[in-house]
Amino acid sequence: MRAAVAISQSAEDPLSGLALDADHARPEPRDGWTRLRVHAASLNPHDVWTLKGVGHPAERIPVILGCDAAGVTDDGREVVVFPVWGDPARGGGDETFDPRRGILSEHFDGGLADELVVPDQMVVDKPASLSFAEAACLGIVWGTAYRMLFTRAGVKPGDRVLVQGGAGGVASASIALASAAGATVYATARTEEKRAFALAQGAHAAFESGARLPEKVDVVVDTVGDATWRHSLRAVRPGGVITTCGATTGGMAPSEIQRIFFQQLSIIGSTGCTRTEFDAMLRTVERTGVRPQFDTIAFDEIRTGYERLEAGDVRGKIVVDFTR
Ligand SMILES: NC(=O)c1ccc[n+]([C@@H]2O[C@H](COP(=O)([O-])OP(=O)(O)OC[C@H]3O[C@@H](n4cnc5c(N)ncnc54)[C@H](OP(=O)(O)O)[C@@H]3O)[C@@H](O)[C@H]2O)c1
Repeated sequence: MRAAVAISQSAEDPLSGLALDADHARPEPRDGWTRLRVHAASLNPHDVWTLKGVGHPAERIPVILGCDAAGVTDDGREVVVFPVWGDPARGGGDETFDPRRGILSEHFDGGLADELVVPDQMVVDKPASLSFAEAACLGIVWGTAYRMLFTRAGVKPGDRVLVQGGAGGVASASIALASAAGATVYATARTEEKRAFALAQGAHAAFESGARLPEKVDVVVDTVGDATWRHSLRAVRPGGVITTCGATTGGMAPSEIQRIFFQQLSIIGSTGCTRTEFDAMLRTVERTGVRPQFDTIAFDEIRTGYERLEAGDVRGKIVVDFTR
C-alpha cells in the first residue's frame, strides 16, 4: 500500500526524513482494533514537528505520519478517526489530561496510508452529511478549536472573540465555531486574500496582523505565538482570556507578567479534545452547516503539501485524496 513515512528526523531539513513509500506492508488486523481503508487524510503541522524531532522520540521512527483520517472499515462502516489516544481514568475523567496520552501517529502508525489500524475507541461513525474529505479535516483542528473555545475559554453567545492568523487550520475552525455559537468574531491574517478567507469562514471583520481592533475582546484564540502574543495581550479586555494550543512562530514571547496581573488576564492552554467534545463538535458541524475549507492533493503531492504548510500557504486544510 502507499504510505507517507517518517524515516528520520532533522530540525534543519525535516522533509529529508519523509519517504513516500508506494509498497509499504499492509497493517494486520488485531483484536480490539479496527482496520479501515482510508479515503481521505489531512496534513497537520504536527507531522512536520515529528519530522523535526519535536515531541516525537527517535525510537518511534519509522512511523507512518498523519493525525487525521476518514474511511471505510473492513465491515463497511463509514468512519472518521477520533485522533486522541488516552485513558480518561488516568486523566481524572478527561483523556487529554492522561499523562501518557498521544495522538494518531505518535504511539502507532498514522493515517497517511491506504490502510490504517486503530484502537476501536478511536473509530467514530462519520456523519452522513459530511464527505470523507470534510471529515478528515475535523479531528485535530476542529476538535482542538471546540475544546479551546467552549470548554477551556468558556465562549458564550454575545462574546467578542479575536482569532489570530485566521487562515490557519485551528484558526479557521475557531472562527467558524465561535461565529456559529453567536460570538462576534474578529480575525487577523497576513494578506488581503487570507482576510477574505477569514470573512468567508464567518469572521465579522478581518484586520492586518497587529492592527487596532474596534473594541477589546473577551477571548483571544492565539495559535501563532511569538508573532502575535504582544497584540493578543493588548486586544483582550480586563479580566479576559487568552487561550493557546500552539506556537507556530515560537513560544518565547515576553509574557508581560505585570499586564497579566494588573489586567487580571487568564492565559489558558488547551490540547486536543475528549471523545465527548469530538462528538459534540461533529453534532455542531452537522446542525449549523459550518464546514471546513480545504485544498485536495494526491498522494504524490504530499511533500509539496508540507512545503506549503511550512510556507504558510494554507487556507483551512490540505487533504490527501486516497481514492485517486
Ligand atoms: N495542542 C494541540 O492540540 C494542537 C492542535 C492543533 C494544532 N496545534 C498547533 O497549533 C499551531 C497551528 O496549527 P494549524 O494546524 O492551525 O496550523 P496552520 O494551518 O499551518 O496555520 C498556521 C497559522 O500561523 C499563522 N502564522 C504563521 N506565521 C505567522 C506570522 N509570522 N505572523 C502571523 N501569523 C502567522 C498563519 O496565519 P495567516 O492566516 O496570516 O497565514 C496561520 O493561521 C501549530 O503550531 C500546531 O502544531 C496544536
